[in-house]
Parts: sequence; structure tokens; C-alpha cells
Amino acid sequence: MGSYDMLLKPLKIGSVTLKNRMVSAPTSCAELGPNERYSEDNYAYYKLKATGGCAMVVVGDVIVDNSTGRSHPQQVGLDDPGAIPYLVKMADTIHSGGALASVEIDHGGAMCDEDLIDREHAFGPSAMVDAWGDQIDEMTKDDMEYIARKFGEGAAIIKDCGFDMVMIHCGHGWLLHQFLSPLTNKRTDEFGGSIENRMRFPLMVVDSVRKAVGRNFPIDIRISGAERTPGGYGIEDGIRIAEMLDGKVDMIHVSAGTQYDPYSAVLMHPGIFQKPGENSNLAREIKKHVKTPVCSVGAFSDPDFMENFLEEGGADCIAMGRELLADPFFPKKVARGEIGKIRPCIRCGECQSGMMKNGCMRCTVNPLIGREDDFFHPIPVLKKRKVLIVGGGPGGMEAAIEAYNRGHEVVLCEKGSKLGGALYYADGADFKALMKQYRDSQIRKVQELPIKIRLNTCVDAKVVEEEKPDVMIIAVGAKPLILPVPGIKEGVEDGSILFGADITDNTPLGDNVVIIGGGLIGCETAVHTGRMGHHTTIIEMRDDVAVDCGRMHRLNLLHQMDVLDNLDKALGMACTKVEKGAVYAKDADGKEVRYPADTVILAAGLVSDTKTVDSLMGLVPETYIIGDAMRARKVGNATRDAYDAVVSMGM
Ligand SMILES: Cc1cc2nc3c(=O)[nH]c(=O)nc-3n(C[C@H](O)[C@H](O)[C@H](O)COP(=O)(O)O)c2cc1C
Repeated sequence: MGSYDMLLKPLKIGSVTLKNRMVSAPTSCAELGPNERYSEDNYAYYKLKATGGCAMVVVGDVIVDNSTGRSHPQQVGLDDPGAIPYLVKMADTIHSGGALASVEIDHGGAMCDEDLIDREHAFGPSAMVDAWGDQIDEMTKDDMEYIARKFGEGAAIIKDCGFDMVMIHCGHGWLLHQFLSPLTNKRTDEFGGSIENRMRFPLMVVDSVRKAVGRNFPIDIRISGAERTPGGYGIEDGIRIAEMLDGKVDMIHVSAGTQYDPYSAVLMHPGIFQKPGENSNLAREIKKHVKTPVCSVGAFSDPDFMENFLEEGGADCIAMGRELLADPFFPKKVARGEIGKIRPCIRCGECQSGMMKNGCMRCTVNPLIGREDDFFHPIPVLKKRKVLIVGGGPGGMEAAIEAYNRGHEVVLCEKGSKLGGALYYADGADFKALMKQYRDSQIRKVQELPIKIRLNTCVDAKVVEEEKPDVMIIAVGAKPLILPVPGIKEGVEDGSILFGADITDNTPLGDNVVIIGGGLIGCETAVHTGRMGHHTTIIEMRDDVAVDCGRMHRLNLLHQMDVLDNLDKALGMACTKVEKGAVYAKDADGKEVRYPADTVILAAGLVSDTKTVDSLMGLVPETYIIGDAMRARKVGNATRDAYDAVVSMGM
């Protein structure tokens, strides 16, 4: 842990000063209130980011033209006069948390949803039928002038509403980026071809915004420094784009990728398989060519890494999206030197995957996301209790921390010799380093608090009698599902069959590895064994793998599997028998196939440890069952259950 002089150093952006160099990247709300206006939940969501100490909060994804620009239903439209009081309140709310406030203004262009706009077809730089089979119209020069004007009008509204800055979205595959990208811009007029021509329309927009807001109102522009996909533009064009913006805007915010390619969209939101600061080299290159301050974004969550990056001149400031969901107080913890208390984002992608799936944003490691108002209006603790927590895994540890923080007396019992439970899965492969970091930080927190920890303790009536708790929280987790298939139980008992969650770098594996079960654990284990050079076969009953994964992580995981040529997927195959040296499975027609197996790994799912739960029920009149002990699910369910139980027990 070093000092963080660079991260904490103020930065002048045009007429405003950032109090430090940590900025909240635009992350849109999962769900707006009625009529696409901000709700109290939306205010709390952004206020929490501001309160955590970042210098500026950027409100995500506000559309400049409702009639042509909406790409999904949850977008505020700037030309909706009814939205204005809500924007004014949003600026005030962010300011009340101590941060500067900015809004990202955008237009979806060819990505717009026909059902949400007034045109028959969405428009973009070039006519085409897109990957979803929708007809896209080519924009005329009049269309471009109209949209440039709308960007200007929208920016003026942002300024009037009391925001300190405006961000033009010129990246990620939305309208302005569609003009920059050779993938979507096929024009042969002065708006297509060379990068200078492709920049003509984005520059019309920048000029219009500048005219509307004046010289003294800072303009930030978000670009993709490279598209990171075959046929897309590379960093050379990214540099040219930035050079053409230099001096016209007050900050160049360098992201990466395009929504037009799923894996590029993954690299835009780097996951567990990508490196820290995955796209920082793009900002670094661009910064060498411009005088305008440069912001970098993407997989920043390590203060030391960030400090070094700024120190080396990689960028002038850093934006964080998911880390400020995992821990909105990251900037204040950096300022206070409380680095060990930072809750790391594990880049599981659940926040975004949830938004895509059901419009709800949740965070695996931060149970407050989705109910941020609880922070500002905490549910009162009416009764202080003594709580006995059974199980030191993710749910049990979160419950212990939460309960202590709410003033309860906590005893945490763990039957094993160490805390961490299911998070020991993180020891398996290098790509689980963030999960490991999260586990270790939770263990550290529990150990540092005055929580009574009893390791090697199986809770029973005697322990309950010793501790005399008011409340018990059962967090005993789940066990691997042992399929009722000949050879599996025997193999598990004699140790010849391993569990997916137990595989580490040191586990001896044979040449041919067969993994029974192609869910999240099976697939991640397959990437690990495949990368270690073992020929790996996944046997999965369903006709696809990783169906239990959130969308963002799944895209990433499938890509990592696809690039391994020693990994096979046997889909639609039900395991029938395991023998020494082979696993057998049959297809829907009953045809049996033999898979040679030097190592067999079982990853067929988890089932709650109901036997232990049953043995504990009735020992303490007020008892809560949380996490996998209730139903085998994800870590995020365990942390949220923990929070809920602790809040409930104080009532
Ligand atoms: C839940 C969520 C919502 C997002 N919403 C937006 C958005 O509205 N506009 C935008 O430009 N980027 C959006 N992003 C992308 C982030 O701004 C950021 O570029 C990306 O998450 C990579 O940064 P990170 O690794 O710090 O999360 C969103 C990302 C997430 C995770």
C-alpha cells in the first residue's frame, strides 16, 4: 500500500475542478420511475456514488431526441419537458453528496428500437439490415443537422438544470460511434471513408453542443479508443479521433469496444478473464497525442494500480463503473488510507446481466445495490440481539459484519478450520483472483471486528446452550449434487472423482479430463483444465452450456471456451456410468458414447445441506436460513439474504 497523491490530486477540467481523480463512470439506472422519470430509488442510487467521495458522478444514458433516439425503454428523454424538474432534482441530489454532476447525452441511431421511436425504421450512417433483421435507414444531411441541433438543445437543458458538465456519448456503438466505425459506416459521401470524413458528423454535434453551452461549460466526450473487433477501427483511428477533438472539448473519456460485437461488448466491461485496467493502454496512447485531459475506464479497482497508472502519465483521471457499485466509498477509503476496507468488484457482470434480464440491478458483493435508500434512511434497530451465525462462508461472513455494524453481539461458528466456505472455489484458477481478493477481504473484516469466531465448531444444542443466542442465522451452504449414476458415489467416496469447486493449480490431473456438468462451475473448471493443457470434455444434459450464468459473464466464458482447441462439449448427453478410465453418456435416442477419462470431475450442481439445517431447526426460537442453505444459488443471493436476515432480526 502506497500513498495516493495522484488519485487525490485535484484536476481542472475547463471551468470546473475535480476534487480528486476518481470519477463515477456513467452507469444507467436499472429501472426508472413511471413515464421514464427518475424515482426516489434512482436518486438514492446516484447519491450513494456521490457520497462515497468520487469527484464527479455521471448520470448514464439520457437521450437527446425521443422521436428517433431511444434504444431501450428505460431512458430519460431530454426533449420531454416533464423530465426537467427530475433532472434539476438529480443535479441537486448529486451535489448534496459532495460530487460534481454530469449527464451523458446520447442517441441510439441504428441501435434504436422501432417500437420506441416515431419512425418506421431506425436510422444510422448507412442503410442496412442489422443482425436482428431490422431495416435501418441511411441518415440524410438534414437528419444529421437535426440530430446535431438536438444534441445542442439537450446540452443546454443539462446546463440549465444545474449540472456542472455534459458528456457526449461518442462510443460503444451508439449513433455517433456508428459514424466512426467502418462496420456501420459504408457511406461514400463526405461522411464516410477516411477517418476525417467519418468524424464530420460527430464534430457537427460537438460544435452544436459547444455553441449551445458556451465556452465556459465543460464538455466531456466518451469515445471508444479502439473497437477491439475484427473489421472495426484500431487505436490509430482512436488517436486521430482524439486529435480532432483536442481543444474542442474539455475532457476525452477513453473507453473501448462496440455493442455490435458481443465479445467487444465484453471487453468494454472487462470480466474475470481480462486484466486490470484492460483498456488503459488506449487512454495511454491517446494521451500522448492530445493536450485535453484524458480519462481512462475499464476494470479499475486496485488503488495502487490506479495510482501508478496516473503517476506514469497514462491518463489524467480514472472512471469507475462497477467498483463504485461494489463499494461506493472506494474514493473516501483511498483518501482515508483505509485500503484494506475496500470491497473489491469481482467483475462477475451480475449488475449488468440483471439489468438485461429483468431490469433489476444487483451486486454480488454489495447487498445495498438495488436499495440504496437504506443507506440514507437505515431501517432502525429496535432491539439489540445476540446472534449466533452458523457457517463462515459468504453469507455467514456478510451476516456477521452487517450484524456487528448494526450494533448486535455476534458469534460466528464454522465447522471447518478457516472462514471462507464456498469462496475457496476461488483458489482454483488465476482468473478467480478477484473472488479470492473478495474472500480474503471479508475474512479480514470479520477478524478485525470484535466478533467471536469459533472455528472447528459444529453447532448443536450444546453450543447453543453455551452461547445462549437470541437469534440464529443458518448459513451452512450447500453440497455438491451426487448424481444417482453407477460409479459416481463410489468414485466420490474413494477419491477418484473430484469436485469442480475443489480443483486447484496443484490438483494432479490426467491427460483426458471429463467434466460431468456444463453449468457455471463445470465451464469455468473446463477453461482452467483446458488452459493447463489437458484434453477436456464437458458432458452436459442440456443442449447448451453455462445456462445458469448471467449474460455478460456467459459471453465471456463461452469465448474463453471457444478459443481452446482441446475442449469439447458433449451436449444433450446424460451421464450413464463412470468406470475406471471412462465416462459413459447417452443421447436423447439412447445411443451410448464412451469418453476416455483419466480424471473425472463432477460439477452437476449443488444442493442445500438440508440435513444440517434440519438438525439446527428448533434450537433457537428466532432462526433465519440464508444463502445456499435455503436454496443453492449464487454468492449474491447469500449476501442479500444475510442483509435481510440481519435487518429483520433487529425488529
Ligand atoms: C450496470 C452498468 C450500467 C452501465 N450503463 C452505462 C451507460 O448508461 N452509459 C455508458 O456509456 N456506459 C454504461 N456502462 C459502462 C460503464 O460506464 C463502464 O464503461 C464499464 O462498466 C467499464 O468500467 P468498469 O470496469 O469500471 O465497470 C454501464 C456499466 C454497467 C456495469
